[in-house]
Amino acid sequence: MANLASMPAQKIFIAGASGFVGTYVLRAALAAGHEVDALTRSKIHAAALRAQGVNAIVGDLLDSEGAWREALRNADAVVHLAQPQTFGGRLTKARATQYCVLRLDMDRALFAAIDPARTRRIIYVAGTSYYGECGSEICDENAVPHPRGWGPYLAPAIEALPGYIARGLPIVAAFPGWVYGPGSWFAQYVLEPLRDGKPVYGLRGRTRYTSPVHVQDCARAILHLTSNGEIGSRYFVVDDAPVPGERLAEIAADALGVTGHGRKLPFILLELLVGPVIAESLAYENRLSNHRLKSTGFSFEFPSCEQGIPHAVKAWLQENPAHNLK
Ligand SMILES: NC(=O)c1ccc[n+]([C@@H]2O[C@H](COP(=O)([O-])OP(=O)(O)OC[C@H]3O[C@@H](n4cnc5c(N)ncnc54)[C@H](OP(=O)(O)O)[C@@H]3O)[C@@H](O)[C@H]2O)c1
Repeated sequence: MANLASMPAQKIFIAGASGFVGTYVLRAALAAGHEVDALTRSKIHAAALRAQGVNAIVGDLLDSEGAWREALRNADAVVHLAQPQTFGGRLTKARATQYCVLRLDMDRALFAAIDPARTRRIIYVAGTSYYGECGSEICDENAVPHPRGWGPYLAPAIEALPGYIARGLPIVAAFPGWVYGPGSWFAQYVLEPLRDGKPVYGLRGRTRYTSPVHVQDCARAILHLTSNGEIGSRYFVVDDAPVPGERLAEIAADALGVTGHGRKLPFILLELLVGPVIAESLAYENRLSNHRLKSTGFSFEFPSCEQGIPHAVKAWLQENPAHNLK
């Protein structure tokens, strides 16, 4: 396993530290002895961040002014995880289009405030939905993207990155796969329905493989890239073992001790139920290689979801005792 504690201490600015992945990046950064400045729009999130020993700055990437710019200019490394809200409720194409526009604005504001003479690396956190349909072969980061699900709405932001790199910004792009853990979509679409005896919906038809990663490994990899990522490169952040999408719910059901969990629907019904963006997210197949990430010296705590999901379920139950099954 990569020894994060042996990384030289840095001053790290995290945008999105209060989010699902950011919470774990923050924990890993603090555990490794880094000094962290964290941006949040929320005074409540700021208080929670300060309680962990972080310099929390209340501000909004979409505001034209803000004290966060000063902290950003003094960062050795920047981790950019901030994004408009993606989960909760039904995801329509209009909502995803709004996401796309706001994400571009947020990136523009963040990149404009960075001092490339001071900051050594910016980890830009994207997503493998940008690569989308990859077929049945194992793909690497040089594959031709066929964006699906959230991918088309992420694509303009990802395709803007080479322009920022050409202007001297030290960007390293991380592409996490399906990030599972005790929160976010995994809790909403998998753990909560299983707890409530409701079906976990999937897409009818051929078996489609996907590339998951435990949120803790995802966070450790992002932090690892702040010291070891090659500027201008992309890294898939996925575990060793692509699996059929429905396998995640099967393992979670076993870990929770419940049965009768899966219900496969035709695309049109799934689209009605969860909206077109999430339905599309289940309609493509990608098996991605983590070779490039591992070649930087990174290794996984949970190399497969068979190892990681029981851990995530346990953490979810511990963090929320009310979830324990009666
Ligand atoms: N979750 C996944 O499964 C997954 C998979 C692949 C890739 N990713 C990528 O990983 C990154 C993080 O995802 P996530 O799921 O952790 O996100 P998340 O839980 O939705 O968190 C979003 C974060 O962005 C911050 N934020 C939103 N608008 C902001 C603004 N205008 N100014 C400043 N901060 C703002 C929020 O902070 P406050 O509310 O505190 O202001 C929050 O901390 C994203 O780029 C996403 O595309 C995620």
